[in-house]
Amino acid sequence: AFGLNDAAKQAGKLWFGTAVDIPGTGEAQDKFYFREFKSPHDFGEATPANIMKFDATEPEQNSFNFTGGDYFLDVAEQYGKQVRCHNLIWQSQLPNWVNNPATPWTNKTLSKVLVNHVTNLVEHFGDRCYSWDVVNEAFADSPAGDYQKNVWFNNIGPEYVPMAFAAAQKVIEKNGLKVKLYYNDYNIESPGAKTTAALNLVSELKGRGIQIDGVGLESHFIVGSTPSYHQQLQTKRAFVREGVEVVITELDVRATLPPSAAEQTQQVQDYYDSVKSCVDVAGCVGIVVWDFDDTYSWVPSTFAGQGYADLFFQPHGANHPLVKKAAYDGVLEAL
Ligand code: XIL
Repeated sequence: AFGLNDAAKQAGKLWFGTAVDIPGTGEAQDKFYFREFKSPHDFGEATPANIMKFDATEPEQNSFNFTGGDYFLDVAEQYGKQVRCHNLIWQSQLPNWVNNPATPWTNKTLSKVLVNHVTNLVEHFGDRCYSWDVVNEAFADSPAGDYQKNVWFNNIGPEYVPMAFAAAQKVIEKNGLKVKLYYNDYNIESPGAKTTAALNLVSELKGRGIQIDGVGLESHFIVGSTPSYHQQLQTKRAFVREGVEVVITELDVRATLPPSAAEQTQQVQDYYDSVKSCVDVAGCVGIVVWDFDDTYSWVPSTFAGQGYADLFFQPHGANHPLVKKAAYDGVLEAL
C-alpha cells in the first residue's frame, strides 16, 4: 500500500526513514516488526540506532570493529534503503578507554584519538553512507548554546568540532567520496540560543572552508509542547539560508503514560506540524523517525514513566502484529 516513503518522494524529499537496531530487532527477533521495517513503501532510509557509535566501533584504542556496521549496511542495502551513518564524535556511548584513560588526555593526545576515529570510519564505510553525523549534540541546554563540557571539549576546547569535520573532509577529498557531513542536535528545532549556536557553527565552518553539508534536527518532542509549525518552518529556513540542507533525523513525540484521549489526538497534530514544516522547505531533504514501533522505542528506558512516542504499537507485544496509530495517518496527510 502507498506509504510514508512513497508520499515523501512525491513531496520531493529523498525519503522517509527510521532508526533501527540491527542486529537486535532483526528478522530473527520479531518477524512482524521486521516485515514493517522492510516495507519500501514506508521506509526508504535506515539509521543505525547504536551499532556505528564510538563504543561499538572502537572498543579498544585503534582496534576497530566494523562487523556490526557492515551488517547493518548489508541489510539496509538489501531492502533498498539509504543510510544516514550515526555518529562519529559524541559525549555518550564512549568506550571506557576514552572516558577513563590510563594516562590523562592532553589536547594533543585526544586530538589524535579524534582524528584517528573519524578517519577510519569515514574511510571504511565510504559512500555506503548517504551522510555522517560528524559531531552529535555539542551544545548544552543550560546555559543554552554553551558547549557541552564533555571529554572532547575539556581537553581540546571548541576546536574539537571543526577538527572532526576537517578530518572527515580530508578522507572525502582523498578518496573522491560523495558522503555528506552533518551536525546533529536536539532542541535546535525552534528559535533560541541553542539554535543560534548551531547556526553560528555552520557559518564558522563555511567561513573557514571546512565542509559541512547539513544539519540534523533531532526533533524528540513531547505531546503538547512540540514547537509550532511556524517555529519549525522558520528554523529550517534559517539553516537552509546558511547554505546547508536539513533533515528531521530522530522524530518521536512522547507522552506520560498512559496518554489521555486528548494527548493521543494532540500527538497526531504534533507529528503533522513537524513533518509539514519539512515538506514546506525545499532544503529539508528527508524525515527520519527514531524507531517506528513503541515496543522498541528508546523513550521508556530513558524518560521514566513516558512512552507512546512512535507511529505503530503492538497490542499483543513483541513478535505480534503491528497496528498503525492515528499519528501514522497524520504524517501521511502532511506529506
Ligand atoms: C539512543 C538509542 O536509541 C538508545 O538505544 C541508546 O541507549 C542511547 O542512544 N540522540 C541521539 C541518538 O543522537 O544517538 C540517541 O539514541 C537518542 C538521542
